Amino acid sequence: MPRSQDEILADARSARRALREALLEWFDRNQRELPWRETKDPYAIWVSEVMLQQTQVDRVIPYYARFLDTFPTVKALASADLTDVLSVWRGLGYYSRARNLHAAASELVLKFKGRLPETVEELRTLPGFGRYTAGAVASIAFGIEAPLVDGNVARVLSRLFEIDGAPSDKAREATLWSVAELLVAGSRPGDFNQALMELGATVCTPANPSCLLCPVRKPCRALAHGRVDELPPPRKAPPRKRLELAVALSHRDGNVLLARRAEKGLFGGLWEMPALPLEPGANPYAALRKLFGKRATIGPEMLVLERTLTHRDLVLRLFPVALPPRLKLPPEQYLEWKWVPRDETKQLGMSSAMESALDEVLPPEATRVKAR
Ligand code: ADE
Repeated sequence: MPRSQDEILADARSARRALREALLEWFDRNQRELPWRETKDPYAIWVSEVMLQQTQVDRVIPYYARFLDTFPTVKALASADLTDVLSVWRGLGYYSRARNLHAAASELVLKFKGRLPETVEELRTLPGFGRYTAGAVASIAFGIEAPLVDGNVARVLSRLFEIDGAPSDKAREATLWSVAELLVAGSRPGDFNQALMELGATVCTPANPSCLLCPVRKPCRALAHGRVDELPPPRKAPPRKRLELAVALSHRDGNVLLARRAEKGLFGGLWEMPALPLEPGANPYAALRKLFGKRATIGPEMLVLERTLTHRDLVLRLFPVALPPRLKLPPEQYLEWKWVPRDETKQLGMSSAMESALDEVLPPEATRVKAR
């Protein structure tokens, strides 16, 4: 019989004081040295929290440094071209995060004098600020007693208080946020939230958690009842989608034809070799013909590149396409297209998959004019 929210909240209330103390003390002794823990700049903290949302700490570190070197302030980010922002983000994935950061920076300049507002309500009005990001920035940057729940926190709290329900369950979600809200009230809310996340990342891990090392094993109900391994239940993975693209490699005089996708959707705003999705069994020549019309000469398939993205299996099938130099209007899924010197493609912001494909079929050295 799953426990009611009232029972769970009553437990959290009575465990609160000892739990907060044990967690904060553990955090003080065991927290990892991470670059965003060495700053008090709300902008830098915001950037780190956005990057960390769908990406592991180790992977974020170099991107975080590069992003702040390139866009050191809200104003610098707001006045940058979206293309440059996406270019620095390339490889981190979930590009809507970068687009939202850029859009929010512009709003901050327009409405908040280039500074992040210091209330959860105002933060929530900005693009990309969901409950998590607002809670993280408010608590870590401004010391506001605002809760947050991410995957790590959800796991820690589910086990501590034996909160049942699948990750998609709305009632469970509401209970988790209520418990987090109750626990964060008190001193050092930013550290407390980070301590919960840190415990989830390093001790209370999904598989083989280190319960013997856990600072809050005493009040942990899942441990007491032998349910650590079954809480939380695994998220049901959505069926993976397969996306197969017919991709055109067009190059002439050291230039490659690249097109920029519309802002919304997969790879939104990024540059790529012009491409069209292929239904299973569809003829790629017919698809490319549709893209370029009669003026194009299409050669035999030269590369098949497969990539596993988070929710998709991506297959790029590359065909050489000879085109006249004067371009007509780009196909409708693109904002623009142009001939780009081969040694400048890296600066534009392509998806990693497209860049790998281009490197493979047209290595940068192959087109470089040799110095005499
Ligand atoms: N995950 C996301 N943000 C984090 C933070 N500030 N500390 C630890 N883990 C995190």
